Amino acid sequence: MPSSISWGLLLLAGLSCLATGCLIEDSEESDASKHDQENSASHRITPNLAEFAFSLYRVLAHHSNTTNIFFSPVSIAMALASLSLGTKADTHTQILEGLGFNLTETAEADIHQGFQHLLQTLNKSKSQLQLTTGSGLFIDHNLKLLDKFLEDVKNLYHSEAFSTNFTNTEEAKRQINTYVEKGTQGKIVDLVKNLDRGSVLALVNYIFFKGPLTVAPQSSMLKP
Ligand SMILES: *[C@@H]1O[C@H](CO)[C@@H](O)[C@H](O)[C@H]1NC(C)=O
Ligand SMILES: *[C@@H]1O[C@H](CO)[C@@H](O)[C@H](O)[C@H]1NC(C)=O
Ligand SMILES: *[C@@H]1O[C@H](CO)[C@@H](O)[C@H](O)[C@H]1NC(C)=O
Ligand SMILES: *[C@@H]1O[C@H](CO)[C@@H](O)[C@H](O)[C@H]1NC(C)=O
Repeated sequence: MPSSISWGLLLLAGLSCLATGCLIEDSEESDASKHDQENSASHRITPNLAEFAFSLYRVLAHHSNTTNIFFSPVSIAMALASLSLGTKADTHTQILEGLGFNLTETAEADIHQGFQHLLQTLNKSKSQLQLTTGSGLFIDHNLKLLDKFLEDVKNLYHSEAFSTNFTNTEEAKRQINTYVEKGTQGKIVDLVKNLDRGSVLALVNYIFFKGPLTVAPQSSMLKP
């Protein structure tokens, strides 16, 4: 499936990026001190993301009997971190700790700022490769969404929250699939085939990646 290939490449691109500090590359940034600040924002979460990527890989590999596994840990982490903005108490702590953050050591604001900067960096179009990622939160229309939450997911994660009537499963499915199809320029259609009755939330993340295969050898940079 083409989408699996894209996901695999993103994993490589994402990890190479984190490992080699390519986040420093930033031609648009003119204010040097702002640059440093933002740069360290995403670097502060890098060790956690790397650790999360490997522990998730271990779990997925354990449950898979196929040779290759394609996944994008950064996308998964980002989607969950944005979801955490709408949670409180134990749920809140569990999501962030599940992503490998120790809230005593890393302030929550730093986590979100780190993701914000990482997202902006990944989104920068390079001449030969195109990478678009987006996430949408589809939440049942019976749940009232707080404005603060909507603003935060938009500002920090460029994520959109939609009020969805999940009782009408067909319409809910259509809404989600249309969102993904548009975001991936028609490359991923009918992502959601079945929606369980009783769903009240769907967290959707897509990646559109287009680039020469020469991205792959960069994975050798992962070696210390
Ligand atoms: C493992 O292999 C079996 C038989 O080939 C297949 O039916 C099953 O879906 C596979 N499981 C996973 C997680 O890929
Ligand atoms: C979180 O960090 C604090 C301070 O470094 C440490 O005492 C605590 O054990 C850590 N918690 C976990 C769950 O690792
Ligand atoms: C990514 O870049 C496009 C155009 O370059 C822009 O419209 C979009 O808002 C950006 N998204 C993020 C998450 O920065
Ligand atoms: C939600 O969908 C159900 C099933 O199609 C429908 O009966 C109901 O009127 C819808 N609610 C709203 C507020 O549109």
